[in-house]
Amino acid sequence: MPATAKTAPTGYSATQISLHWLVFLLIGFQLVFDEDIGRAWRAVRRGEELAFNPWVAAHVYIGIAVLVFALWRIFLRARRGAPRPPEHEPVILKLVAGATHLGLYALMLLIPLSGLAAWFGDVALAGEAHEVMKPILIIVVLLHIAGALYQQFMLKTDVMTRMRKPQA
Ligand code: HEM
Ligand code: HEM
Repeated sequence: MPATAKTAPTGYSATQISLHWLVFLLIGFQLVFDEDIGRAWRAVRRGEELAFNPWVAAHVYIGIAVLVFALWRIFLRARRGAPRPPEHEPVILKLVAGATHLGLYALMLLIPLSGLAAWFGDVALAGEAHEVMKPILIIVVLLHIAGALYQQFMLKTDVMTRMRKPQA
């Protein structure tokens, strides 16, 4: 096959699957343990000195890890392509799934970037954007999970298997 011919893969690679579930865990951590960073940010805005707090450091480093993993995922997707939606899936669902994935990639970039701009650049507006994107992320992730469950139990497709079993 010529090097330029690119057919859609039938599934995700082991790296893509590992990154998907690792990012899921890291984002879950960020959403659950967000109190200290919020408190530290408000203290910084009041001009107070901050003592070292491991939860704040964890938020920053884990957030940066999410950004790096998201960029890595986008690179892999661009190089390898993504499996096609199940053939008999209604067109509207294909569109919703595509838009959801695009939204998730955008949020995986914009949330850490706004956090970095707030924390290291002292940009107050970026801090607000970071906060506003929290409920948006939760809603889009819930929609994504609902879609995965609908595929599994109603449409009975192999979509969940794709995110479990790697394909070369
Ligand atoms: C995907 C990665 C990230 C997620 C999911 C995330 C999530 C959150 C959440 C849920 C909050 C609390 C918002 C609230 O009080 O309602 C928060 C606050 C904050 N995060 Fe992140 N964060 C991420 C990455 C980062 C990064 C890389 C930084 C950079 C240092 C950062 C800096 C901050 C700051 C300064 C705040 C306090 C300001 C605010 O509440 O918006 N975050 N983050
Ligand atoms: C329980 C939680 C989750 C489940 C059950 C789940 C399930 C899945 C499944 C089955 C796919 C494959 C879809 C397909 O091949 O058409 C997928 C893809 C995807 N998931 Fe999740 N996911 C979860 C959480 C998350 C989270 C937290 C994020 C990021 C914030 C995320 C981002 C993505 C993205 C961007 C894709 C598209 C990958 C691509 O085609 O490039 N997922 N997910």
